[in-house]
Amino acid sequence: PTLNVTNRSGEETTVEVGSGLTVMEAIRDNGFDELLALCGGCCSCATCHVHVDPAFKDKLPAMSEDEDDLLDSSDHRTENSRLSCQIPFTDDLDGLKVTIADED
Ligand code: FES
Repeated sequence: PTLNVTNRSGEETTVEVGSGLTVMEAIRDNGFDELLALCGGCCSCATCHVHVDPAFKDKLPAMSEDEDDLLDSSDHRTENSRLSCQIPFTDDLDGLKVTIADED
């Protein structure tokens, strides 16, 4: 399955994602340094913030209260905001498009 990542400069890259990774890990493992993911996926830093293509909204796992609270602390939250470490990349999400959110 593939994931399409748009970086902060607006460049799109399509990457292959191995099984068992989260979207955050897939982005980070492909060398996108601008996704800091400082807490390593513990849902406590919000530096893995992405905007997800609304076409995939129904396929995403529900948002936890912690994720919701963290996203509220961002100045760049939109209705398509998610923390990428909270999205396991399943086959269902093949072709998912995400844009790395601006830094807070
Ligand atoms: Fe810290 Fe996702 S990596 S909240």
